[in-house]
Amino acid sequence: MTANLELSQKFDFAKSLVCSAVAFLRAQMDQPFEVTEKTDFTDLVTDMDQKVQDFLMSEILAVYPEDHFLAEEGDYKQAIGSGKVWVIDPIDGTANFVAQKQDFAIVVAYYEDGIGKFGLIYDVMAEQFYYGGGDFDVFCNDEQLVPYKDKPFSQFLLAINPGMYHSNHGGVAHLAERVLGVRTYGSAALSSAKVLTGQLLGYISHISPWDYAASKIMGERLGYATVTIEGKQPNFRDREFIMIVPKVRLAEIQDILEG
Ligand code: IPD
Ligand code: CA
Ligand code: CA
Repeated sequence: MTANLELSQKFDFAKSLVCSAVAFLRAQMDQPFEVTEKTDFTDLVTDMDQKVQDFLMSEILAVYPEDHFLAEEGDYKQAIGSGKVWVIDPIDGTANFVAQKQDFAIVVAYYEDGIGKFGLIYDVMAEQFYYGGGDFDVFCNDEQLVPYKDKPFSQFLLAINPGMYHSNHGGVAHLAERVLGVRTYGSAALSSAKVLTGQLLGYISHISPWDYAASKIMGERLGYATVTIEGKQPNFRDREFIMIVPKVRLAEIQDILEG
């Protein structure tokens, strides 16, 4: 299926917008920035998160003044189900950004009446730009990503949230026993991007809508399901236990999680 012209133009706008946001962040990130704790000392936000979000939102509103936002910072919490909604995580992997200045992403997704139209994830320092989904092919930079290719679990790595792995929440340790190894990258979007490129079997974590909105759209085009660990659709409202895994292995993965 091909996308209509209006949507294609919006997708082109979004690609160019995310590239501009990356340039905006890179130009400022070596200046001192303010770091604030949200819920505890491991849950950080910086003034750069807010500035990148403000930049993205003001550029979108300048062209699409009627559109709405579900964005991590502040009170922009439009329900995904109705209208034109941009979902924004201005910096995903803020702890990596603060501690390493590596392995963080700018993440944008676009939904119309609850249907994902396209997603974008930009790995800022590695300069890897993942984009597409809906009616658009999925790319990493100039390379088109291919759909999931099946192979035994034993040949795959798997990314799991460390807290969930430690407590075997939802039975994730049972799945971990079946794979080549477990990895943790500190960015939901970049972990999911590694799933989309076939580098990981899946990613399981306790995350919010802006963490999974973009990869969910791209993943659907490539044969991946983004569901709760009980196999339900995410609610796009609360932080939930979410996995992105190959659709053809979903039932088997759920059986293993249930022990
Ligand atoms: C966090 C990262 C982290 C995940 C957390 C997220 P943030 O996002 O994606 O990897 O484990 O659940 O909140 O706060 O850096 O945007
Ligand atoms: Ca995030
Ligand atoms: Ca964030």
